[in-house]
Amino acid sequence: MTGLLDGKSALITGGGGGIGRATALSFAREGAHVAVSDFDTETAAETVALINAAGGQAMSVNADVTDAAQVEAMIKTVVATYGRLDCAFNNAGIAGFQVDASGKKTHEWSEAAFDRMIAVNLKGVWLCMAAELPQMMAQGGGAIVNTGSIAGLVGLRTSSAYVAAKHGVVGLTKTAALEYADAHIRVNAVCPGYIRTRMTEESMRRRGEELMALVPFHRMGTPEEIAEMVTWLCSDRASYVTGAAYNVDGGYMAT
Ligand SMILES: NC(=O)c1ccc[n+]([C@@H]2O[C@H](COP(=O)([O-])OP(=O)(O)OC[C@H]3O[C@@H](n4cnc5c(N)ncnc54)[C@H](O)[C@@H]3O)[C@@H](O)[C@H]2O)c1
Repeated sequence: MTGLLDGKSALITGGGGGIGRATALSFAREGAHVAVSDFDTETAAETVALINAAGGQAMSVNADVTDAAQVEAMIKTVVATYGRLDCAFNNAGIAGFQVDASGKKTHEWSEAAFDRMIAVNLKGVWLCMAAELPQMMAQGGGAIVNTGSIAGLVGLRTSSAYVAAKHGVVGLTKTAALEYADAHIRVNAVCPGYIRTRMTEESMRRRGEELMALVPFHRMGTPEEIAEMVTWLCSDRASYVTGAAYNVDGGYMAT
């Protein structure tokens, strides 16, 4: 039996969190050598331990995605250890409650909250791509998946800077897909709906029923359901797919 990502070297940012961890486990099950990155070193170490305990191959390469020097060092470590970087899942992110912006309309966000949201959720993705792309060009190709959101496709009340950042991620994704197609680098985004992770605990507590009424499946998605799409997008099975933003949202975007 062969795996979808056999022999590939793969990096995941936000790899200590819900979607990142599920994807790291999926990548490893499909045969990739996995580099797990997070600024929460403990949760990243847990992900690495889970992979290694299951017979996969993983290491941690922690970085804060808002820090260009740390991001550069992260890519250097992956390449020094695994020899190349075939797949990169730029997934680290934060939600409004993590910058004290829960329930706030556009004019109520503080400047500090807005700046922090853009720094992590938008600039962080750009910094990672800026470090990954030269390596992928040098080795003759690769696949990048960025984590967008349904918030990258439509507006969501009281999520101003989050929505702006995620729309930005979709824009960066499309632009890079055009710029690096000739270099055999595919760049796509996954756009999750409401997924059961630490990030959504707070909003589900406050208005879970209201939110689930908007989802045709009337339930949250699991991190594993996002991991399926990311694994496929990173694999050679998706060889003709670039510049796309795929919804995995229980039908939310169809309404
Ligand atoms: N959960 C959802 O419903 C949902 C929906 C759409 C999009 N997303 C996106 O999915 C991605 C993963 O989120 P999740 O739901 O797994 O949440 P999560 O909180 O479980 O995971 C996010 C991870 O990113 C890490 N992180 C945060 N800031 C970082 C930084 N500056 N540098 C490095 N790592 C950092 C956190 O430590 C955490 O492990 C995020 O980009 C999020 O915006 C989530």
